[in-house]
Amino acid sequence: MEAVYAASFSDDDPLSGLVVGDLPEAEVPDGWVTVDVKAATLNHHDLWTLRGVGITEERLPMILGCDAAGVSEDGRDVIVHAVIGDPAAGGGDETLDPKRSLLSEVYPGTFAARVCVPERNLVAKPASLSWSEAACLPTAWLTAYRMLTTRGRLAPGETVLVQGAGGGVATALILLGGALGLRVWTTSRDEDKRQRSLDLGADQAFESGARLPDRVDAVMETVGAATWSHSLKALRPGGRIVVSGATSGMNPPADLARVFFLQLSVIGSTMGTRDELESLISLLDETGVRPPIAAEMPMAQARDAFEALQAGDVFGKLVLTR
Ligand SMILES: NC(=O)c1ccc[n+]([C@@H]2O[C@H](COP(=O)([O-])OP(=O)(O)OC[C@H]3O[C@@H](n4cnc5c(N)ncnc54)[C@H](OP(=O)(O)O)[C@@H]3O)[C@@H](O)[C@H]2O)c1
Repeated sequence: MEAVYAASFSDDDPLSGLVVGDLPEAEVPDGWVTVDVKAATLNHHDLWTLRGVGITEERLPMILGCDAAGVSEDGRDVIVHAVIGDPAAGGGDETLDPKRSLLSEVYPGTFAARVCVPERNLVAKPASLSWSEAACLPTAWLTAYRMLTTRGRLAPGETVLVQGAGGGVATALILLGGALGLRVWTTSRDEDKRQRSLDLGADQAFESGARLPDRVDAVMETVGAATWSHSLKALRPGGRIVVSGATSGMNPPADLARVFFLQLSVIGSTMGTRDELESLISLLDETGVRPPIAAEMPMAQARDAFEALQAGDVFGKLVLTR
């Protein structure tokens, strides 16, 4: 079947291992179901995979992609939850299952004609969401939702700073923050992305690293090393930083004196549960909030989408359609 996959890893030139071609379909384990993919979206995770992060050589070739929306074998319109895990093993939360993985880490991903997942990973797609909009939700949007709610516990009226306004997670944070009644401030290196974040509903947008007019209650961090020190300095005493990614580097100075002296909380967050995905879908269905889509293209043109993602030249999500 048609598939977009990693054939090898390279840290310097991750796209050298990207293949758009054909692969045989994997066997369907007991209790798993097959979905005909209508749309799938790129995430930074796909570039990490091509760099060999979070995956080992013996799993190659690996079909890329965490997100999908499509039609199940019994004819339902579904959104595919990307976390393969056992809620019981994680105390009721599959993201805390020590053996959990995301599609494309252990099991084949969604950039293919068909993807196979446990039956419980199918969630109904409301008719109000297009295939492309629905496919944006299982990774970037679900991550943003959990960062703001379960992990960040932000309350209406609080001020949140979103670093790196143009990213897939960041644009979701801006829109969901607004829908949840937060005051949303953003940073971006790029003037055009700052303006576009204001167009999405952010209250103020600042250059990356700029001095802010006030301290914030919480920072949503996915950029990592390039913005970490600014994130810590932006917080009020007792503030919290929720971190789910580190695109620009994993090991910035920890600035521990600031962490303990100001009693800051550093909170990790990864993906979300099936229940959270259902809540997110309901929120979009009820509020009319929709994911900004940077570009849609047929899956056969996946290389163009990967080049745009790697260049960081994107505002919102890149969608592959079938
Ligand atoms: N833990 C999880 O469950 C989870 C889920 C999804 C994503 N993630 C991670 O979160 C990160 C973001 O993912 P994404 O899909 O949203 O990626 P993305 O769309 O590629 O976003 C990256 C954003 O980071 C900013 N950025 C990149 N390099 C920077 C630098 N050197 N200095 C300042 N800003 C920089 C850019 O913001 P500006 O150009 O606007 O400045 C860019 O828009 C990735 O590392 C990803 O692996 C984690």
